[in-house]
Amino acid sequence: MKIPLIHTCKRLKERGVVGINRRNAEYTLKYNKRKLYPLVDDKLRTKQLAILEDIAVPDLYDVVESQAQKKEMLDILKYYNDFVIKPARGSGGNGILVISGKSKDMFRKLNGVLMAPEELNYHVSKIISGMYSLGGHPDKALIEYKVQFDPVFEVISYLGVPDIRVIVLFGVPVMSMVRLPTRLSDGKANLHQGAIGAGIDIATGKTLTAVWRNDIIYEHPDTGYPVSGITIPSWDILLTISAKCFELTGLGYLGVDIVLDKKLGPLILELNARPGLNIQIANQTGLLKRLEMVEKHYKDLKNVTERIDFAKQNFAHGKII
Ligand SMILES: Nc1ncnc2c1ncn2[C@@H]1O[C@H](COP(=O)(O)OP(=O)(O)O)[C@@H](O)[C@H]1O
Ligand SMILES: [Mg+2]
Repeated sequence: MKIPLIHTCKRLKERGVVGINRRNAEYTLKYNKRKLYPLVDDKLRTKQLAILEDIAVPDLYDVVESQAQKKEMLDILKYYNDFVIKPARGSGGNGILVISGKSKDMFRKLNGVLMAPEELNYHVSKIISGMYSLGGHPDKALIEYKVQFDPVFEVISYLGVPDIRVIVLFGVPVMSMVRLPTRLSDGKANLHQGAIGAGIDIATGKTLTAVWRNDIIYEHPDTGYPVSGITIPSWDILLTISAKCFELTGLGYLGVDIVLDKKLGPLILELNARPGLNIQIANQTGLLKRLEMVEKHYKDLKNVTERIDFAKQNFAHGKII
């Protein structure tokens, strides 16, 4: 069943929804030092940073920075049956190629279509030339481990890997959602590509209502399974990783994206210094009151455990703040 979001927008305003101007003026510009942005705007740097702090990330197989390195890339790829190619400075799922298998010397995309090595080479050339990078600057192509998603997502994900976004202010998890790939999003969990966003109760890790394009939905459009009431596995670990990203980066206001691998558990996929605001729609709740509460109390919270307890106590679903 679908309920048009338009009816809920007014209510959202009353609930303290943060708009782009307020987010920029009062959160990102105020709490995120410009010199720290490169740590999260380049996925290679984020990976290196996380590894140094013993936070798990998908394994890196290769980095291609020049046309000359592409030959070596094809040699390296002989050893891997599946992998993901992405622009280091990309966003919104653009330029990401998920290879799920091989047939002779051809590469199989998630949708089953085969790609010749020359096509793969061409895709990497486009990444390097900056076609998908912030500001169109020359970029690097990262080739990494293809995450095998946790079985809990089997019936509520179409082909691709869901990711879990947590908004963190001064190390306190404030709001969360899981993004579920659909046929439309082509195996990527980006909302603009057509993925579903389902709010998550910070206290329990259970999914709430979900939003797809402009509608509230209850079932996954491709699989037909209910998307609410699913408990995200390893929820406390996920909150702990998110909270630690404050110390990891020094960024006060942060979006942490985590994927859950069947064998490896939670892995950081990327960090965002200007996280989007549609998490509020997925949760049917504004961020403002939660953010103000953290601003008021974070100095009293001594460590990660206290920050998580604070979040669970104050931001539990159904708690009026
Ligand atoms: N290593 C991976 N394994 C499987 N799927 C991935 C991997 N990396 C990215 N994806 C898919 O692509 C989406 C976007 O990837 P991400 O690294 O967050 O880039 P972007 O900055 O473009 O959002 C993810 O949400 C996920 O669905
Ligand atoms: Mg992403």
